[in-house]
Amino acid sequence: MIFLDRLNGIKGPKTPVWLMRQAGRALKEYRDLRRDYSFLQMCTVPELVAKTTLLPVDILGVDAAILFSDILIPLLALNAKIFYHEGTPPVVEIDINNLHYNGLSNKLNFVFEGIKLIKTQTNRPLIGFAAGPFTLFCYLFNDAKFYSPKAFLYQETKKFKKIMELLTTLTIDYLNAQLKSGCDCYQLFDSWAGILPPKIYKEYVFDYNLRILSSLKKPSIYFAHSANHLIDYILDLPTNAYSFDWKVDLKTISKKTDKCLQGNLDNTILLTNKETIKKHTHDVLNNMQGLLHIFNLGHGVLPQTPQDNLKFLVDVVREYNNN
Ligand code: CP3
Repeated sequence: MIFLDRLNGIKGPKTPVWLMRQAGRALKEYRDLRRDYSFLQMCTVPELVAKTTLLPVDILGVDAAILFSDILIPLLALNAKIFYHEGTPPVVEIDINNLHYNGLSNKLNFVFEGIKLIKTQTNRPLIGFAAGPFTLFCYLFNDAKFYSPKAFLYQETKKFKKIMELLTTLTIDYLNAQLKSGCDCYQLFDSWAGILPPKIYKEYVFDYNLRILSSLKKPSIYFAHSANHLIDYILDLPTNAYSFDWKVDLKTISKKTDKCLQGNLDNTILLTNKETIKKHTHDVLNNMQGLLHIFNLGHGVLPQTPQDNLKFLVDVVREYNNN
């Protein structure tokens, strides 16, 4: 299990590979399913969760499966309504001045049932996930530019902290249940942490992430996006691996931490030809040779990525491993 080995700090000659958003619109088999089911159905019917999760394992041969779901799904435990429309940001219907959380109370059982099914169908490590609480908070405002959640943090700081407390408790319960159901590790997607100034991240967000990462018993990966200015704080988070996008040099970061690093091929490279993909994939692998590394993209697979290129990318990593 080279993927779990690297997370656990065990080095080896081979680099494991999986891809954020590996189960999505870039796969024909996913698009075929989506013709029959809405995205929300695909996330809430255990059999569809399991089937979709396993598509990229079977088609691409990646070293880990990631639970098929979405970071907004746990909001259903707060009785939110969530709407997904193709090509636009998701819409969340919730009253942020009247949030209540009284435990998961079976509202997310379809996720845990899905996980149990996946575990009967594959031996590959299974990655669970949740959003970092600030990232989840950002989606409560339906503001594509995320000005409103930031303004709320600055002006309604007390209320902000109360909401973050609630989202943190929800996230810990949710991840705990995923791990108990069979996930081998989890990734905390703090996709929007990078919109904050460093001192604000440290003062208002860091401790909640810290609490989540130190509460859960299985290995974790912390992902942040466009977060170069936060790296020194992020590297203080107690996690097994840090995942960054392509705007940073992973080797430079490796000089500051002994932990595993995940990433960070520019996802746009997958829109080019095979020669270009191979060159840039080798660059990422060469740069991290001898270090604790899990190969991934810097951010999710773009929906318009040719499926052939995804398969080619995974094969290039495999071939590199075998030479
Ligand atoms: O990585 C995987 O394959 C697992 C599944 C997964 C999805 N979303 C499926 C999805 C994961 C791990 C996520 C996480 C997620 N969701 C994040 C964090 C990662 C990141 O990209 O920064 C965020 C910010 C979201 C919120 C979200 N979900 C948005 C903004 C959108 C709409 C934009 C888009 O890509 O269409 C979604 C929908 C979504 N989540 C889709 C998928 C496959 C597309 C749904 C469809 O089929 O139309």
